[in-house]
Amino acid sequence: MPTPEAERQRFRAVMGHFATGVAVVTARDDRGAVGMTTNALTSLSLDPLLLLVCFDNAARTLPVVRATRRFAVNVLAEGGEGLAGRFASKLPQDEKFGDIPHSLRDGTPILDGALAWVVCDLRELLPGGDHTIGIGAVTALGHDRGAPLVWYRGAYTTVTEPRS
Ligand SMILES: Cc1cc2nc3c(=O)[nH]c(=O)nc-3n(C[C@H](O)[C@H](O)[C@H](O)COP(=O)(O)O)c2cc1C
Repeated sequence: MPTPEAERQRFRAVMGHFATGVAVVTARDDRGAVGMTTNALTSLSLDPLLLLVCFDNAARTLPVVRATRRFAVNVLAEGGEGLAGRFASKLPQDEKFGDIPHSLRDGTPILDGALAWVVCDLRELLPGGDHTIGIGAVTALGHDRGAPLVWYRGAYTTVTEPRS
């Protein structure tokens, strides 16, 4: 039986108190670049270096990651609400990137201005209810400095950059 709507909303509201960053997961096949906004993202292992991303089973980015076995995580900086909105949309996949400036790293799109980025080879896809857990083995990574875009209680905010 499907989870009642009230329970879904309550779960969303409770988990919304767990503040997260916001990232765009990108991938690329011979039809071009694809991407989706995500906050269900965490580092998983240091030896080896692994991270995990949770994909809605309906996300169109998932089959591209499944097929190409590679993806990148682009952590958004403060002010990245427009990018987050664009990549959370269901615009036709080939219009989502449009003129958004990016470069390719190991064949995977890295957004200009990303606060941090990680390129991964897909290690595993595991079932997780209506989502699929993607585990990536890190192949390249980097970061800049600045304040992050933060997702808290269903809205965008930021935090001040620490001094150190
Ligand atoms: C702040 C925020 C966080 C999101 N986090 C996730 C997530 O972790 N996993 C997911 O599958 N979708 C997440 N979404 C929804 C996807 O971005 C949305 O379903 C998108 O349309 C998927 O794009 P695609 O179908 O082109 O892959 C999030 C949306 C927002 C606004």
